[in-house]
Amino acid sequence: MTPLVITPEVAQKICQSVGLRMTSSNDSHLAEWVHARCQERHLPSPEAYASWLADPLHALQEREALSKLLTSHETYFLRDRGALDVLREHILKDTLAQKKEQRSLNIWSVGCSTGEEPYTLSILLEENMSDLGQWQVDILGSDIDSAVLTQARQAVYRPWSFRGCPPEFITRYFHADNGYLKLMAHIMDRVRFERLDIVGDVYPTSVKGMAHADIILCRNVFIYLDDAAIQTALKKITACLNEGGYLLCGPGELQAQAHPQLVPRIFPQAMVFQKKTIADQPVVAEPSHTLAPHATPYVTQHTAAQTLPSTPAEPTTTLAHAWALANRGDVAQASAMCDTLIQQHPFDPHAHYLHAVLLFAQGLSVQARESLRRVLYLDPLFAVAYLMLSDVCMAIDDITCALKSCEQGLKATSIQAEEQRVPYFKSVTYLEFRQHLQDRIVSLAQ
Ligand SMILES: C[S@@+](CC[C@H](N)C(=O)[O-])C[C@H]1O[C@@H](n2cnc3c(N)ncnc32)[C@H](O)[C@@H]1O
Repeated sequence: MTPLVITPEVAQKICQSVGLRMTSSNDSHLAEWVHARCQERHLPSPEAYASWLADPLHALQEREALSKLLTSHETYFLRDRGALDVLREHILKDTLAQKKEQRSLNIWSVGCSTGEEPYTLSILLEENMSDLGQWQVDILGSDIDSAVLTQARQAVYRPWSFRGCPPEFITRYFHADNGYLKLMAHIMDRVRFERLDIVGDVYPTSVKGMAHADIILCRNVFIYLDDAAIQTALKKITACLNEGGYLLCGPGELQAQAHPQLVPRIFPQAMVFQKKTIADQPVVAEPSHTLAPHATPYVTQHTAAQTLPSTPAEPTTTLAHAWALANRGDVAQASAMCDTLIQQHPFDPHAHYLHAVLLFAQGLSVQARESLRRVLYLDPLFAVAYLMLSDVCMAIDDITCALKSCEQGLKATSIQAEEQRVPYFKSVTYLEFRQHLQDRIVSLAQ
């Protein structure tokens, strides 16, 4: 039988109509789907289907099915422990302080798939809010795919959903259920699910209760969308955030995207965005090209004379100060301080690591990759640099480099004691870190 094929131009046109990023890995699925749709709709050719789909109304009808076909539903409990540390230690603490009068907390997991992420959030609150019972808490999980939401509502999971989770996490919050694991009712009760297409649907809407979020997680969703679709979704998602509220995305997912209402907050484990309040002064240079890759080359943006301390400071103090500026979203000052540090201590891998994080935050992925290579040249055991190098390579579609970086990270960390904590990732052990690299290798190799 002749294999079903479609030309790259047709595949591109189809993906573009529904706002999905085209990758070569989904060609054969797409070809099969298009041929089936042509038969159902009596369309003579894949080209005719692509033209039919160019009508926005048709695109809206087909988006759920095409998303299902071309995006992954992969998710698991406690995914990305470094980011969860930032969530617990910075975002949650600050949000609880902001909301202590109202005692209400609205959290939204966008593109939640089968529910592991919103349920992880519910557990995180259970473990970190001693007065949880006195708060009105709403955790919403949404997805474009109704089938995954049906599974999410059941909260019954296979062991694969717990990869990398400590055994006590499972025994504390789940009970056995016909060979599967079912989440405890009091954790489930705080979470509700709604179907929402973040690109095509009209929102914010109080109907689904997503208009006033304090914290939004949108992780590993934008990676499947093209730039125009990301911008459309980002505007609507930002409109759902309260002033001062937080948006947490996957590593590098908002690379080179304009987000004029959001201030980046940079941590070693994750970059989060905080919605400006009306009183906020712009923290980083506006307008929209702030983080665009074509921005003025990094080194010429911040002349040392503007911000250099007059006397060289003790390196860790200055590094801590530069991180603090980055945490506050003051990318320009942090970068200037980091440049100074590198001039003073050119062989300090920690300064080069911060440099890489700041470059990545500004969408300068190629330069960030060079910085990370420098870090690893100076210290081949700098574990988090391998993970970040793979994030950066993924952002520039260099999958070979992303894979290689994970493999090298696995090799380099094999000599570390499993239970020891990974520097920069406070609560993550080398065992968990290595598991994370292994998972990444599996998903990159697909
Ligand atoms: C890889 S999963 C991410 C799950 C979870 N956020 C995590 O990081 O573990 C991506 C999810 O995004 C959903 N998705 C893709 N396009 C979407 C859209 N336009 N609107 C809402 N959800 C979408 C997919 O259905 C899928 O369940």
